[in-house]
Amino acid sequence: MRLRLTLIAAILLLCPGATRPPGLPGPVTDEDYRPVDQAEARLGRLLFYDRILSGNRNIACATCHNPAFATGDGLSLGLGEGAVGLGPARHVAPEDMPEQRIPRNTPPLFNLGARDVTLLFDDGRIAEDASRPSGLRTPLDDSLVTGFHSVLAAQPMFPILSPDEMAGHNLENDVSAAVHEGLITVPGGALDILAGRVAAIPAYRQAFAAINPAIAAGRKIAFADIANALAAFVSLEWRADRSPFDAFLRGQAPLPPDAEAGMRLFYGPAGCSACHSGKFQTDQKFHAMGEPQFGPGEAGRFETNSRDLGRMRVTHDPADAYAFRTPSLRNVTATGPWGHTGAFSDLAKFLGHHTHPATGMEGYDIANATLPAFPEAKKDDLQILKSPDDVAAIAAAARGQPSVNLTAGETAEIIAFLASLRDRASIGGRLGVPDEVPSGLPVDRK
Ligand code: HEC
Ligand code: HEC
Repeated sequence: MRLRLTLIAAILLLCPGATRPPGLPGPVTDEDYRPVDQAEARLGRLLFYDRILSGNRNIACATCHNPAFATGDGLSLGLGEGAVGLGPARHVAPEDMPEQRIPRNTPPLFNLGARDVTLLFDDGRIAEDASRPSGLRTPLDDSLVTGFHSVLAAQPMFPILSPDEMAGHNLENDVSAAVHEGLITVPGGALDILAGRVAAIPAYRQAFAAINPAIAAGRKIAFADIANALAAFVSLEWRADRSPFDAFLRGQAPLPPDAEAGMRLFYGPAGCSACHSGKFQTDQKFHAMGEPQFGPGEAGRFETNSRDLGRMRVTHDPADAYAFRTPSLRNVTATGPWGHTGAFSDLAKFLGHHTHPATGMEGYDIANATLPAFPEAKKDDLQILKSPDDVAAIAAAARGQPSVNLTAGETAEIIAFLASLRDRASIGGRLGVPDEVPSGLPVDRK
């Protein structure tokens, strides 16, 4: 296999002007994105960086999704409400200890305004669904999902209502108390309380009135207005389509030779484009790749195990066990640690595992992760790693996946290709980090 791969790559390289590999996407264009209202996006920017949307006013979207860490947090598993610091320096503090780590790696937010993005989260639990009255399928009852303009706008209520991420725990604040009592969308519920907090700040009230005639005429600001503004911001801010690979696809510039060789492997014998297909290198489908799992998992509220069954949590179909969405690879060389738990902080090591999915967690060493110390966590981080049955189940789910042997040189070429998917300007964002936000609360910046 190894020899064959090298040979094919060599033949392709020796033939300048060799045909474009099949499966190579066309160039990204404006038509690939949903239209964005600039003024709404500018308002969304302030909300994204404002801790006002968290129960205890101590964490913003930007705490976990920060441009200094390529719209992630640089950690394998993040620390939510109660923790302090940014990026790999984030840590728990004894005064307000979180209960557990966030169960999955914080994903980057590039190109989520693309029309192709029809589902979100590693398990796709929010998705466009034309058969529903709201046009969306989410874990919440349909009657609760109203007024959101897109799948991206339906997303913010999940971190905002999560006690570990933004709401806080039990009765410690008005939002967490409402969540605790199950008062979410009712008048006076958690979403109403947050909308009220925002509406109480004149600068926000004016900005919403300026973009929305109904609000200008006296309608109350609703949570959906806030969510739609956040979605407009994310769509505009982190559109990433000016990488060297984009220039190559537009016929503007050749790729460096090593990246071109990597591209030919990616869209050829290495088989990557079987799943990482389309303009954003994702088929938006779910595959079990045997990724190591640790941390608290996504078990139900009263379950004590630390399992994360991935897509099966949404479909309840055992064939979907441990399957996770194929992520986009835009800017991927900047978005480590990699995998849905961030199991690998080194991209070459990640690919070594990823090209042999069926070995599962065999030989995995937690030292590959980037995890701030948290001995007080409610669950043992290593529960799954220490359970032979769970380890075997994760490997078994990945048994049908193709295994590819890459030489160190070929891995380096694939990484050079992945580096060509980096749009440097997009990482910092088009509008950038605001100097201050209307609540006056501190803004997370490095
Ligand atoms: C405590 C850290 C944390 C905070 C705070 C946070 N997020 Fe996230 N975000 C995550 C994690 C972890 C996931 C992945 C969850 C999953 O897949 O189950 C995620 C997923 C997402 C996604 C889906 C991305 C995709 O490709 O599927 C979007 C969009 C997003 N967050 C936006 C936001 C916005 C907007 C806010 C503020 C309202 C926010 N996040 C607050 C950690 C955080
Ligand atoms: C069978 C489908 C499939 C194939 C083939 C495949 N991938 Fe993936 N890839 C995935 C899935 C699914 C994930 C997410 C896995 C997880 O975290 O559990 C992923 C994750 C990744 C990531 C990590 C992204 C991140 O943000 O954490 C990289 C990098 C990657 N793949 C590159 C490649 C390369 C390079 C190849 C070819 C050598 C390849 N993939 C082949 C499905 C595939």
